[in-house]
Amino acid sequence: MTRKLAAGNWKMNGTRAALSELQTLADAHPAPSVDILICPPATLILRAADLLAGTSLRIGAQDCHADASGAHTGDISAPMLADAGATAVILGHSERREDHGETSEMVRAKARAAHAAGLTAIICVGESLAEREARNTLDIIGGQLAASIPDGCTAANTVIAYEPIWAIGTGKVPTTAQIDEVHDFIRARMIRRFGQTEGGAIPLLYGGSVKAGNAAEIFATDNVDGALVGGASLTAADFSPIIAALEGSA
Ligand code: 13P
Repeated sequence: MTRKLAAGNWKMNGTRAALSELQTLADAHPAPSVDILICPPATLILRAADLLAGTSLRIGAQDCHADASGAHTGDISAPMLADAGATAVILGHSERREDHGETSEMVRAKARAAHAAGLTAIICVGESLAEREARNTLDIIGGQLAASIPDGCTAANTVIAYEPIWAIGTGKVPTTAQIDEVHDFIRARMIRRFGQTEGGAIPLLYGGSVKAGNAAEIFATDNVDGALVGGASLTAADFSPIIAALEGSA
């Protein structure tokens, strides 16, 4: 059975004062039936991982460099993230593809580095509004999957997040039919590439304006194994009901 995952991406938000939200969240979910992961900014990973040791919450990162060490001012490597207590890393988020010119080939190299460091790679794909309106969604997603995902992915070391760019931070959410179409397509591609046992069990997350009010409907969609949540993961009050909705989904 595919693992379910409620993942929060804090993006460039949060200072030490925000750590209390993580403690509140951990206290509210002492024995969850789904995996819970928060990816705070890199400055908080070490403290957050220490704070949450022994709880049900896991800590992840939002990016890593493809190399393990070297002359790359300002970058952080996958082994460094693992050493700080991260268990996963988001890769190829559309904001990084856009703000930092990350290509799918770069994302694939980063994913290899994440796997080598023992981190779960959460690889993001998603189409722009123009691409959807031109009816190119599945071609775009297929191309991103083929180029961004390294060989050797397993259900234990890889998560795919479908995040339509036009739904991120906009309050616009695709219909469940639109989510269903893309998630079924991603599932088929994963099975074709990695086989039924692994490809059939790689968790597939939906991301883009997930809130307490729409989470249950999204989680009822076929091949949706959880969510990658931005804004609504910043406080325990907003994220907790999303976790509960995932726990309540069949
Ligand atoms: P929002 O939930 O704020 O739309 O962000 C989604 C996202 O980009 C998560 O990675």
